[in-house]
Amino acid sequence: MIRVENLSKSFDGQPVLRDVSLAFVQGKTNLIIGRSGSGKTVLMKCLVGLLEADSGQIWYDDRDFSSLGFRGRRLIRKELGMLFQGAALFDSMNVNDNILFPLNMFTNMSHKEKQQRVDFCLDRVDLQNVHHLYPSDLSGGMKKRVAIARAIAIKPRYLFCDEPNSGLDPPTAILIDKLISEITSELNITTVVNTHDMNSVMEIGDTVAFIHRGALWWTGSRKEILHTGNNELNQFVYATELMRTIKPETRP
Ligand SMILES: Nc1ncnc2c1ncn2[C@@H]1O[C@H](COP(=O)(O)OP(=O)(O)OP(=O)(O)O)[C@@H](O)[C@H]1O
Ligand SMILES: [Mg+2]
Repeated sequence: MIRVENLSKSFDGQPVLRDVSLAFVQGKTNLIIGRSGSGKTVLMKCLVGLLEADSGQIWYDDRDFSSLGFRGRRLIRKELGMLFQGAALFDSMNVNDNILFPLNMFTNMSHKEKQQRVDFCLDRVDLQNVHHLYPSDLSGGMKKRVAIARAIAIKPRYLFCDEPNSGLDPPTAILIDKLISEITSELNITTVVNTHDMNSVMEIGDTVAFIHRGALWWTGSRKEILHTGNNELNQFVYATELMRTIKPETRP
């Protein structure tokens, strides 16, 4: 469980997060949705400590991340898997070394154990015989798979994915979503996913939080989202729903 309490963040006096309070449930895929610029990435960066909030608290189970110093945070960081926008693999490293990287950084495993873990994670994301390839040799969907393998290498308790689908065709996007959702329940981790893809919401959204202009506007389940009576949320939901109902060949 991750809990966010009264989180606020401004840049140059401009509020980007406004008193956000919400909880992410263990073993579930918790989605944060909202229009471009609504503050999803800033919120996620605050959660993992890449940005410092101006006020508020972030709890990782019973640990108050916000009040911890460098060492205390490092202990929690060891438990976080991250998949940020654009996959962010290291271009100069092959697939094997990309996945070894967090294991070298955060574990004392032997070389043999680390290699076994790399093999297990690649197998879990259904990639075989790609160890020697470089990111530039991979398709967009394969890059995401490698990034997921790298994120789960350290057996995280918490997994953060910022727009894991961006740039993928719809069938590949659904495969990646399902992979994230399956891994979440298999490993019983607390997963947080930023998205503006309504397909993802309907496929994997165990809990859904809608952020509008930096404020938490609505939370609920995917079953409830189509019938909320909330204007801003409806605009978001039905704008994307409309795109889904237009035949692909007639889309602009
Ligand atoms: N380092 C920064 N300095 C100043 N402003 C920033 C910074 N990072 C983000 N912002 C602003 O914060 C707002 C929210 O940005 P954010 O990236 O969180 O949006 P988002 O919801 O993730 O959008 P998208 O769906 O396009 O990824 C934007 O107006 C953005 O310009
Ligand atoms: Mg973003």
